Amino acid sequence: MERTLIIVKPDGVQRGLTGEIISRFERRGLKVVALKMLQVDRGLAEEHYAVHKGRPFYDGLIEYIVSAPVVVMALEGKNAVKAARQTIGATNPLEAAPGTIRGDYGMEIGRNLIHGSDSVENGETELALWFSAADYAPQERPGSEWIYE
Ligand code: RTP
Ligand code: MG
Repeated sequence: MERTLIIVKPDGVQRGLTGEIISRFERRGLKVVALKMLQVDRGLAEEHYAVHKGRPFYDGLIEYIVSAPVVVMALEGKNAVKAARQTIGATNPLEAAPGTIRGDYGMEIGRNLIHGSDSVENGETELALWFSAADYAPQERPGSEWIYE
């Protein structure tokens, strides 16, 4: 099983879309294995988006992420990174397919509602940044044979 980090960004939380967003992943078959709400401090925001440092949108991106609380979760499933990115949709909501989270709820790239890790390796790095081992609830949910063969 693979894990990915998902962040419902400040716009998603303020617009009351947290439940809707979590539901979409759950209904698909991805399992929430850790979950918390927090207001991100600048240090964590800068570490999380370090790869974008120096890009023209970087300062605005940091301001956006620290502007109000976010809801962060770890999702688990087979190919969780790819499946979650597909459910999220393209970075620019105007290019995201209808039926994806960004395609259904977003209007522009600077308010695209949600973050999802873009590779298994980055997912592991990001999860280590946001969660510690104690944050993962021990759980066995029966029925996975109806999601995976
Ligand atoms: P994310 O990391 O948030 O899941 O988004 P992503 O992989 O689809 O896109 P990425 O290239 O990693 O960009 C990170 C976030 O930066 C903002 N952005 N703004 N104004 C712009 O041109 C621009 N480009 C990127 C978005 O909030 C994007 O999600
Ligand atoms: Mg990204």
